[in-house]
Amino acid sequence: MGRMQSICFVLMLFVKITVGKLDTDALVELKNGIQNDPTGKVLDSWDPKSLASDGCPKDWFGISCIDGRVTSIILNDLGLVGEFSFSAISGLQMLQNLSISNNQFTGMISKEVGFIESLASLDLSRNFFTGSIPSLLTGLKNLMLLNLSSNNLAGEIPSGFTDLELLKYLDLHSNDFSGNVMGLLAHLGGVMYVDLSSNKFSGSLDLGIGTSEFVSSIQYLNISHNNLTGELFPHDGMPFFDSLEVFDASNSHFTGNVPKFTFIVSLQVIKLSNNLLSGSLPQGLLQESSMVLSELDLSLNQIEGPVGSITSGNLKNLNLSSNRLSGPLPARVGHCSVIDLSNNMFTGNFSKIQSWGDYVEVIALSSNALTGPLPNQTSQFLRLTSLKISNNSLEGVIPPVLGTYPELKDIDFSLNQLNGFLLPSLFNSTKLTNINFSFNNFTGTIPIQAFINQNYSLESLDLSHNALTGNLPPELVKFQNMVHLDLSNNHLEGDIPDDLPGTMRGFNVSYNNLSGVVPKNLERFPGSAFHPGNSLLILQNEALSPKIGPNLSFGRHHSQTKSAIRPALIACLVAGASVMALLTMMIYCRTHRACGEKTTSKDSSAKKDTRGSKDQNLPESTSKSAISAADSTPSRIPQLSENPSALKVCSPDKLAGDLHLFDDSLKFTAEELSSAPAEVIGMSCHGTLYKAMLSSGHELAVRWLKEGIAKGRKEFAREAMKLGNIRHPNLVSLQGFYWGPKEHEKLIISNYINAPCLALYLHGILPTYRFPFHQFYLKICVHIYFFSFI
Ligand SMILES: *[C@@H]1O[C@H](CO)[C@@H](O)[C@H](O)[C@H]1NC(C)=O
Ligand SMILES: *[C@@H]1O[C@H](CO)[C@@H](O)[C@H](O)[C@H]1NC(C)=O
Ligand SMILES: *[C@@H]1O[C@H](CO)[C@@H](O)[C@H](O)[C@H]1NC(C)=O
Ligand SMILES: *[C@@H]1O[C@H](CO)[C@@H](O)[C@H](O)[C@H]1NC(C)=O
Ligand SMILES: *[C@@H]1O[C@H](CO)[C@@H](O)[C@H](O)[C@H]1NC(C)=O
Ligand SMILES: *[C@@H]1O[C@H](CO)[C@@H](O)[C@H](O)[C@H]1NC(C)=O
Ligand SMILES: *[C@@H]1O[C@H](CO)[C@@H](O)[C@H](O)[C@H]1NC(C)=O
Ligand SMILES: *[C@@H]1O[C@H](CO)[C@@H](O)[C@H](O)[C@H]1NC(C)=O
Ligand SMILES: *[C@@H]1O[C@H](CO)[C@@H](O)[C@H](O)[C@H]1NC(C)=O
Ligand SMILES: *[C@@H]1O[C@H](CO)[C@@H](O)[C@H](O)[C@H]1NC(C)=O
Ligand SMILES: *[C@@H]1O[C@H](CO)[C@@H](O)[C@H](O)[C@H]1NC(C)=O
Ligand SMILES: *[C@@H]1O[C@H](CO)[C@@H](O)[C@H](O)[C@H]1NC(C)=O
Repeated sequence: MGRMQSICFVLMLFVKITVGKLDTDALVELKNGIQNDPTGKVLDSWDPKSLASDGCPKDWFGISCIDGRVTSIILNDLGLVGEFSFSAISGLQMLQNLSISNNQFTGMISKEVGFIESLASLDLSRNFFTGSIPSLLTGLKNLMLLNLSSNNLAGEIPSGFTDLELLKYLDLHSNDFSGNVMGLLAHLGGVMYVDLSSNKFSGSLDLGIGTSEFVSSIQYLNISHNNLTGELFPHDGMPFFDSLEVFDASNSHFTGNVPKFTFIVSLQVIKLSNNLLSGSLPQGLLQESSMVLSELDLSLNQIEGPVGSITSGNLKNLNLSSNRLSGPLPARVGHCSVIDLSNNMFTGNFSKIQSWGDYVEVIALSSNALTGPLPNQTSQFLRLTSLKISNNSLEGVIPPVLGTYPELKDIDFSLNQLNGFLLPSLFNSTKLTNINFSFNNFTGTIPIQAFINQNYSLESLDLSHNALTGNLPPELVKFQNMVHLDLSNNHLEGDIPDDLPGTMRGFNVSYNNLSGVVPKNLERFPGSAFHPGNSLLILQNEALSPKIGPNLSFGRHHSQTKSAIRPALIACLVAGASVMALLTMMIYCRTHRACGEKTTSKDSSAKKDTRGSKDQNLPESTSKSAISAADSTPSRIPQLSENPSALKVCSPDKLAGDLHLFDDSLKFTAEELSSAPAEVIGMSCHGTLYKAMLSSGHELAVRWLKEGIAKGRKEFAREAMKLGNIRHPNLVSLQGFYWGPKEHEKLIISNYINAPCLALYLHGILPTYRFPFHQFYLKICVHIYFFSFI
């Protein structure tokens, strides 16, 4: 007996010492696999020499230990990097809790994990584990929680989960698991929480073949974002879930009717959104019989028919959007706070909402066929934060009551037929963040009377496509949080206020009658934010700031013109290109434009129509009235930028080459030229023609020759100088040329003369009486035409 005891004691001592040693050894081995520990908590504290008297690690981060045995490893949220070695810790025979969530561990869940029989809780979530679940894992008889969510695990789930009798929580969401979902669910016993969402499970949800224990104990079941098909609960009809509180089967391919969920008295949340469910809405879900249901999401299905009154006192969140529901709006909505019926076919009078209760916070009724006015008797909506009723057929004015909702943040009334004035009080709200009144028939001014020291939260204001008049209120600058401002397509006039917030990312005032100069801080917006429309609004950006060097873009690979003026162009297209290009350049016949120039519209009356006429191959305007630099609104550039494929920016940063001027009377440097405000006035086969204004006020026509037109430098210079010597009353003489280091940096420069293009006369587009000698010019062109073939 005594001998026996002492043997036992020696044995136990031996076991204790060796195993104790093993536990810390195991941890040291685990530590060696950690390549990076950003917080330093593990690598610094896991010191093999720091041991307590019972052999437990002393002050090792995340380790719990009793009597020399490690019971728990908890290393969540530490950003640890490395391969996690399950084999290293497989000998920890007292380990109950292994939780390493939210790190960057890699590797497979190796089968050795199945040796840690003491494990009650295994949480490997939010790491980079790969491979499949080893079947030995189902040998962990004590397991209560298994969380493998948010890894890169794949494959089918091993059978044998039946053996995990203590399992209560199973979370496999956000992996790539596949296989029939019932292959797992049919083998689960008394689990409470199952999340299989965001995987690739297939099959149908046939809980009739599941265990009754599962059906009666499950509280949370999330099978959303999978590839499940068939009817919900086909086998048995609705099983008798005794405890089910949350059921999420959204984003799959379920078909058939929406289950009635009768007799499930514990259900709080039902989400079946984005499936193929059809039939009518089970009214019981909206009525008092549904007991505790507080959230119902059936959006994005094919549910038809009417929605009756909501009498449930618990339903808070109802989303029936994007179905085929019809009929009038429900007369009552109970205690609902979020009601989304948008994108259905509801008809009838919108005024029905005046009987909705005062719990309402979010009303979404966009894209239905509702009619009638906005009701004025809805002072109960004191909690309303969002009112979206876009894309209906609502009419009438905005009732003053709208300005009395203290919590209102989002309003979208767009795409209706509302009219009358905008409410001043809306613009005085410190809560309102998004206003969209676009595509209505609102009139009057923008009634902003901002008060100093108010902190307005307005971020997005869209009043586009209405009939608003008057000036832009200077108080707009008080909305310092503004991100998106669209006032386009109205009849607004006057200046654009300076100092509109620099935070804006979207801005549009086109199609108005604004004038003045665009403020500096708005110049970064594209030309289309200002034009078409606003013929008197000057965009410095176009008229002044893009220097001829850096910013102008030209049609390097512009498609060749097919217009009627083509014959005249042939001259410049054919062989001997450099000479011809220069010649055609010169055939200006008291005009600055070469044959076949695609002229730009200067006629402000034509600007309104530029929306439709994007065909840049045809001359758009026939007369070019004398326009001073100040009012020559460059309507062309925004239009060009609408067709970016035709424009490839290929300009040098500055003009660093040689500028050669023929005439001493005109002097400027390459720098001066490159910083001269410029404007595109035409494009043709041999390049883009700009009008540039020197700081002296002298106006030049500068043609940026396309690549390949000017060949050798010497030849180019010789020909240019030869042509520069020609003086003729009917020819615009060449003032100089510029030869830059790059292939495309060749310019020819002449004086700018304000007159129409020769081609227009040649083809009878303009009356010729102003130019009795047009026969003469014709001869010139014909001559060139022949010359070019020699
Ligand atoms: C395991 O550790 C986690 C995280 O500290 C804790 O929430 C959980 O209760 C522990 N589980 C067991 C079974 O000890
Ligand atoms: C599993 O882990 C994820 C992420 O760490 C967490 O959000 C989720 O609540 C966990 N599941 C369970 C059942 O504890
Ligand atoms: C179900 O899972 C999805 C995806 O993981 C998640 O977005 C959703 O919130 C979950 N549903 C519920 C009701 O918790
Ligand atoms: C979804 O399941 C069907 C059969 O049930 C299969 O044909 C299809 O390929 C699956 N889709 C995906 C994305 O796994
Ligand atoms: C209703 O569901 C749709 C689609 O699932 C979603 O986009 C929308 O945000 C939901 N509405 C509300 C108010 O949450
Ligand atoms: C407006 O509603 C109709 C159907 O009522 C829909 O077809 C259309 O796409 C909606 N338009 C917008 C801009 O939402
Ligand atoms: C809608 O209801 C309001 C108030 O009940 C009423 O004034 C209006 O005439 C109705 N409009 C239509 C189109 O039925
Ligand atoms: C709306 O109500 C306000 C105040 O209750 C009242 O002054 C106004 O005349 C009403 N407007 C309409 C159109 O009924
Ligand atoms: C604007 O708001 C201020 C402060 O909340 C208030 O004193 C003022 O009367 C309001 N003005 C209008 C026009 O609603
Ligand atoms: C305003 O509504 C219109 C039409 O529904 C939409 O196209 C536009 O993007 C909305 N504006 C903003 C700023 O969201
Ligand atoms: C806008 O209002 C004007 C005058 O009130 C009316 O002539 C026009 O038809 C209305 N336009 C639309 C689209 O309702
Ligand atoms: C506006 O905000 C600033 C700081 O965010 C705060 O100091 C100031 O009191 C606020 N003014 C009002 C009128 O709410």
